[in-house]
Amino acid sequence: MMSVYVRTGVGGIVHLLIVENSDRTGKPAAALLRDVIVAGGTKGASICFATGSSPLPAYQELVAMHKSEAFPVEATRAYLLDEYVGLSADHPQSFGRFMAEHLYDPIGLPQDRRHRPGVESSDLDAACKAYETALKEDRLDLAVLGIGANGHIAFNEPGTPRHSRTRVVDLTDDTRHANARFFDKEEKVPHQAVTVGISTILDARRLLLLASGENKAAILAQALQGGISTNVPASYLQVFRGELTVIADEAACRKLAFDNE
Ligand code: F6R
Repeated sequence: MMSVYVRTGVGGIVHLLIVENSDRTGKPAAALLRDVIVAGGTKGASICFATGSSPLPAYQELVAMHKSEAFPVEATRAYLLDEYVGLSADHPQSFGRFMAEHLYDPIGLPQDRRHRPGVESSDLDAACKAYETALKEDRLDLAVLGIGANGHIAFNEPGTPRHSRTRVVDLTDDTRHANARFFDKEEKVPHQAVTVGISTILDARRLLLLASGENKAAILAQALQGGISTNVPASYLQVFRGELTVIADEAACRKLAFDNE
């Protein structure tokens, strides 16, 4: 594992941990998550979780750590970054179910600590407002993010303005195609999702971005070291004022520029 600092496109500094392969992202990411959970104490930390392939090793390691160290998680408040419109929390492809299976159930997170946007509501706008209000009141200690090959973070697709908040979005064909691997047919991937916004993410105290694989190399470099642009929503991470940690594998770091190069 290598710990380096890289210069962003706007001249800031980002802490980057480079690991050999995607599996190795798990341990350092889980250690960070555990520290945030433990620091939350009896009041409990408030954490927003991405789903998908990138954070999976982190969740698996956190489960393993919890088995061997048993730190208290009961007070932790967990939020989803995004969720498909219309899917129930126990639908096999819902993000709620993904988190229950890979993290919440194995560590014993109480049901009333698991928050997700009201994607089954008949008034989605009101449900989005309620979710945004809950996140504002319970300021996030940490948001765990992945990055889409098209530059999205959460489901803030290219074209998303900086000042976006929780809302309903239409998923791009690229994103539906990328997520078809979790469904038996691409047609079954919902066309809409509720996502937290860029501003919602940037309001967190701390961010953890996970990226692995060759197919994330170009977009990771653009996001961290290119110009800030609505075409690459992840590029807004460069204006984050809190602490941003990036944990990525070697393949995903191939296009980053390092100062000594
Ligand atoms: C999922 C989410 C997405 C993913 C991104 C990367 O909750 O918010 O932004 O993080 O699409 O997905 P993976 O990690 O599967 O490549």
